[in-house]
Amino acid sequence: MRELIEFLRTEGVDESLLKAAEDWRTKQAPVEESVAHRIPVPCYPYYGKDVWEEAISALLSGEHLLLVGPKATGKNDLAENLSALFGRPQWDVSFYINTDAASLIGTDTLSKGEVSLRHGPIARCALEGGFGVLDEINMAKNESLAVLHATLDFRRCIDVPGYDRIPLSDATRFIATMNYGYAGTRDLNEALASRFLVIDMPPITEENLMKLLRREFPELKEAYARQFMSLFTDIRKKCDSAEISTKALDLRGLLASIRLMSQGLPAIRALEMGIVNKCFDDFERQLVEDVVRGRIPENLTGREAFGN
Ligand SMILES: Nc1ncnc2c1ncn2[C@@H]1O[C@H](COP(=O)(O)OP(=O)(O)O)[C@@H](O)[C@H]1O
Ligand SMILES: [Mg+2]
Repeated sequence: MRELIEFLRTEGVDESLLKAAEDWRTKQAPVEESVAHRIPVPCYPYYGKDVWEEAISALLSGEHLLLVGPKATGKNDLAENLSALFGRPQWDVSFYINTDAASLIGTDTLSKGEVSLRHGPIARCALEGGFGVLDEINMAKNESLAVLHATLDFRRCIDVPGYDRIPLSDATRFIATMNYGYAGTRDLNEALASRFLVIDMPPITEENLMKLLRREFPELKEAYARQFMSLFTDIRKKCDSAEISTKALDLRGLLASIRLMSQGLPAIRALEMGIVNKCFDDFERQLVEDVVRGRIPENLTGREAFGN
């Protein structure tokens, strides 16, 4: 937590917002021991000062957030960082076409001859003052999300016929994510979108990607860090122009490949595992392979990239 705040300071995030977030945290109901392990410790800090400021302001004002943007813009990463900064337990809910009210709120279960409600993630998040990450919310059918209307607007409660009414704890916030910007994405209806403040997530800047690489891999030679950054930009450009799908636009895969190199695996083989092999279409695979070979020397060893 201290470390995260220090990071935000060095990134130049408005000091008064950081102070307000800290005040907010101390004023909330304490997190129950049984869910304290759900307060995330982010693996990566999110880079992007403006987005941080917008997100912190919205959450402090009691709003829920919708993070909209193409793949690999750090939406989940930011959500996790926000739960950490605000010191709240996090519940993740992945949405898919069959997501229904019961899987979100809970189901009746029979125990010792009595029917009781077994709380789903939304209900637990409401009760424990958690941050709920509604991941890829646009993938669910809009009808099945209608149960969230009362939860997400000024009523701040879970109100479904047949269930007890559950009010949201003051600390509870929802952060939804939605992939948008490339072909094949579904839309979100107006009623739902109106219940969020929306951040249009920008792709990580080259400068911030360099910072991320330098921080994650201090031993990686600068010249190679720059090549990996440019490789990612090349792949993004191919996605932007719809030459390839977004399968290879995988920053987590790139980071994993570089980690393999740090263990000594040759660069090209590591990048095949982390990026190229994610394309299952031969033509696309060849295009991505060409991009990789255009940037990374054929015989670059892991040891050489890491300068030892
Ligand atoms: N602005 C950013 N700051 C830090 N990491 C980022 C940023 N953008 C993308 N990433 C990295 O990209 C990877 C994918 O992030 P993720 O949150 O899963 O993206 P999304 O959900 O938008 O597809 C993660 O490893 C994350 O650390
Ligand atoms: Mg995501």
